[in-house]
Amino acid sequence: MKEHKIFKGKTLAILSGGGDTPAINSSIEAIRNRASLLGYKVYGIRQGWKGLLGDGDILDLSHQPYDGTYGGTALRSSRTNPFPSKKNPESRVPQVLRNLDRYHIDVLVTIGGDDTNGAAKRLYEQEGIPVIGFPKTIDNDLRTHTYHNYKGKEIEAVLCPGFPTAAKSIMEFTAKLKTTAESHSRIMVLEVMGRDAGWLTGTALFGGGELALIPEFEITKERKEFFFEIVKEAYMNSKKKALIIPVSEGTRWYDEKSGKVDVVYASSELDEYGHPRFGGISGIIASEISQKLKTEARAQITGYYPRSGECSEYDRRLTRALADKVVDLLLREDYGQMPVLMKMTPFIGLEEFNTTSIDMGEIGNMPLSDEYYNINKFSFTDTYSDFLSNILEKPHFREFEYDFPVVLAK
Ligand code: F6P
Repeated sequence: MKEHKIFKGKTLAILSGGGDTPAINSSIEAIRNRASLLGYKVYGIRQGWKGLLGDGDILDLSHQPYDGTYGGTALRSSRTNPFPSKKNPESRVPQVLRNLDRYHIDVLVTIGGDDTNGAAKRLYEQEGIPVIGFPKTIDNDLRTHTYHNYKGKEIEAVLCPGFPTAAKSIMEFTAKLKTTAESHSRIMVLEVMGRDAGWLTGTALFGGGELALIPEFEITKERKEFFFEIVKEAYMNSKKKALIIPVSEGTRWYDEKSGKVDVVYASSELDEYGHPRFGGISGIIASEISQKLKTEARAQITGYYPRSGECSEYDRRLTRALADKVVDLLLREDYGQMPVLMKMTPFIGLEEFNTTSIDMGEIGNMPLSDEYYNINKFSFTDTYSDFLSNILEKPHFREFEYDFPVVLAK
């Protein structure tokens, strides 16, 4: 077979930054394979932008076996910001430029969310570095401009690699939690990652979660009272006197003591992009539900579980389709762009013809719209269920149906 060596002698380097997802190795493998076919030597930069500081920390990925089904990132990750930040006021851009030069890197592919790709875009605009962004986040809150057609209406949705696998994990986790909730007639408040958006929290729906709280809508004093009423009603109406309520880690909840609405911090220390760490809101909500409704409630934090484990088949195919688009961008030498999926689709439609690229300056954060979440009912809508049904198959719930006769004392 004739080898296409268009970019022979050129080097492409890949880095992954920010929180990991189970689809990063899959993305690296797919990009590496395609770039190699074009003739590039492919390097991996370790620990995101950190690997371009100091002497550099670079690996040669060319002609090496690569296991893209294994979750996380073999290149490892960090939240290093090359640009000045509060935490680190000194610019490390000169170090990055020096290393790009020292290692003769011609094109940089940055796998990340808004932070990593925002920095990449600045390097492209300010320093002329040829970059291509590649989306990733389990939070699914990067504005990918992916459209979801529901009953003839085009709705702006989001689809980022990593989210489909994380969604599957949250769905399965929720479905499992049901048996313990039922055994104790409890309300389980299930905390799910999502700093600014509730996309992932909604996936608990397919596992049997009911109601939900998300960061997009703050729970004021009035809303909180109403929420308790709705919870009571849902609990009383539940067949087995059990309820699982998914809540985003970034839920903004009214605190009686301070009289303010705020998030719960696991640590207020900021990372280099200015983010604190959230965690613990489920404990507060569960204890308030217990007090208010006189019903046992418990908190369960899913934490890093949705970020862990193997890449799903959906994500494997999604990363390959987006990597096909990277080839197109490389051939056209069209930098400062990010490949994205155009239309929400089931597995079969994950093909290059369904991809496009967007200007990395247009990424930003994309919260859930009213189409997907109804604050008056504290629940996700049918439109959201339809969005999710592209990615996940709703499991058939095995119910233990029993109606044992009650024995009366004689
Ligand atoms: O990458 C986003 C995310 O998964 C958020 O949902 C979460 O708040 C954060 O990462 C946690 O990050 P870390 O790995 O720094 O604890």
